[in-house]
Amino acid sequence: MITKIVFGDPVRTDAVTARVPKGEKVKNFSLTREEKRLVFRCPLKAGDAVYGLGETMGRVNKRGGRYISFNTDTADHTDSNPSLYASHNFIVIDGERPFGAFFDTPAKVTFEIDYMGSGEVVADCETCDLNLYEIEGGSAYEVCRELIRAVGRCYLPPLWAFGYGQSRFGYASPEDFRAVADGYKNNGIPLDYICMDIDYMDGYRDFSFNERSFPDPAAFASDMRGRGIRLVPIVDAGIKIEPGDPVYEEGVKGGYFCKNRDGGFFSAGVWPGMTHFPDFLNTSAREWFGRQYKFYTDRGFEGFWNDMNEPAIFYSEYTKGLKNPLYRLAMDILFGKRRKEKKERELVRDYKSFFHDADGRRLRHYDVHNLFGAMMTRATSEGLERLLDHRFMLFSRSSFIGAGRYGGVWTGDNSSTWEHLMLNVRHMPSLNMCGFLFSGADTGGFGGNCTRELLLRWLAFSVFTPLMRNHTSKFTRNQEAYSFGDTDAFRKVIGLRYRLLPYIYSEYMKAALRSDMYIKPVEFVYPEAKGIEDQLLVGDSIMIAPVVTEGALSRNVFVPEDMTLVRYDGGFKCESASRGWHTVGVGLDEVVFFVRRGKLLPVGKPIMNTGEYDAAALELLGDGETYELYTDDGLTRECTEANIRLLKKA
Ligand code: GLC
Repeated sequence: MITKIVFGDPVRTDAVTARVPKGEKVKNFSLTREEKRLVFRCPLKAGDAVYGLGETMGRVNKRGGRYISFNTDTADHTDSNPSLYASHNFIVIDGERPFGAFFDTPAKVTFEIDYMGSGEVVADCETCDLNLYEIEGGSAYEVCRELIRAVGRCYLPPLWAFGYGQSRFGYASPEDFRAVADGYKNNGIPLDYICMDIDYMDGYRDFSFNERSFPDPAAFASDMRGRGIRLVPIVDAGIKIEPGDPVYEEGVKGGYFCKNRDGGFFSAGVWPGMTHFPDFLNTSAREWFGRQYKFYTDRGFEGFWNDMNEPAIFYSEYTKGLKNPLYRLAMDILFGKRRKEKKERELVRDYKSFFHDADGRRLRHYDVHNLFGAMMTRATSEGLERLLDHRFMLFSRSSFIGAGRYGGVWTGDNSSTWEHLMLNVRHMPSLNMCGFLFSGADTGGFGGNCTRELLLRWLAFSVFTPLMRNHTSKFTRNQEAYSFGDTDAFRKVIGLRYRLLPYIYSEYMKAALRSDMYIKPVEFVYPEAKGIEDQLLVGDSIMIAPVVTEGALSRNVFVPEDMTLVRYDGGFKCESASRGWHTVGVGLDEVVFFVRRGKLLPVGKPIMNTGEYDAAALELLGDGETYELYTDDGLTRECTEANIRLLKKA
């Protein structure tokens, strides 16, 4: 049961699309109204878990932490950092009578959840205008599903987006991309796409190619397609101020950029130098921005990642900041915390200095900050829907609940550490609770140098996340799967992704069609697994228990009911695992997971990319009797239950 309580005159976020009955007053919280804020409080009992908040630091059970929804470009993914790139203001309190609340405001919200042992949840909204959705259900899982239903059907990627992708900040020429394609092919490791980071552009301008390196991008894209590989260009939020450039000129002429107090366009320094930010809260500006993707679709590109859309600001017309990125990095390292605090103050000042025209309503950016990235994703997605007659790949760094209808997300600039592998494990169920099914992290880590062991363990986890992309920063050690000597183990682990494709694709599409989660905490189905956060349920049949510890060649696994243990080392080996704790050996060149009792797992033949996928050549593992397989051509928009057929075990 979901109800909506309206406070003041909330900004339209379009986060919820279902018709929701209105309630008169909050039921599960006490409420203090202060001059410029609404503060909600609710006591917690000792054993209550609190879930939600999507992309935040901390554990899956959010108790004990303080989290601030204020979208931030930050590489500091540590518990001392309260804000990452996204705002997902949905929490579920799993007590005697489970209930959830979605604080639907693009303003800053601070959550303190049993913070310092306070024994209560506090949600402090920096606004008096808010749509609050209260959801009651029989279980935390039901509450999440009710929210997902209310948000509306999540984004449906094409089949190829479920393949494995390689990326790196620094690939700059066709030779770089060809070398990656060759590296994978020559080592017999499957690959579906390579991401193009900002170096493909001309002076870091969106909707441009560096013509010296890419004289004929359409021919290049088609050549790569011929090898079974798609290219996925990055698009940043800011449009470079460059008189004479058609995109810039059109934006100025149409008045599509965010404005200063005095009516001029706000200018912020990002990768290309000074830019203007498209006013994504304005319908005409969104349509204009969406139309620009024609530049790529005309040249055969059909997958994109949207970045820097918190929006990130390196420096602005008001704050001098440090223009040279390397110098900035050096200063950050030398003056760490002090620089960070100064930067935060400058950002707030910037965000308070420009305005949106939300179709006639003038809004200060700071007050609607958290919506910016989500609306960029919406602009892109709606644009691509008009430009293409089939599904496309799209994922964004910044997001707000509701954006999961338009595209996926990745979790930004993590590092090559074991902690960040575990953070990835924790993010996945929390993101799913908030309706972001197509998600994943930079596999192997963005910052820092990845080791062979970490990459293998990270890949073995990413095999199960819908977005499986290896990405790293400039100046880091090579991170492609063929860069670490003997490639046999990589071939096996990435190969597993492709053998599981029938399952991963079916489970994702069914979850999307049925307003379900694709990845969930084990305790959502098996309450006796409460508190176990390093095991997850993936789809309806699989439980995973990834190895997230350096040097470990085994791990303890709680098996909540008798299951089938599946060991993949190039072939599938099944054995039974009885209910209880097990110490399971997991070599570096294998992946171990579990098939639930009474369930089946369809697996396909080894293939080199999704183009070779054959849904007719399947094998069924596990002790169940039937499996609902979803199949289509991987591109059609006609995704319905009619594409599901029942497979029966022979
Ligand atoms: C940001 C992105 C990262 C990208 C880089 C250069 O840091 O998060 O993924 O590689 O910008 O575009």
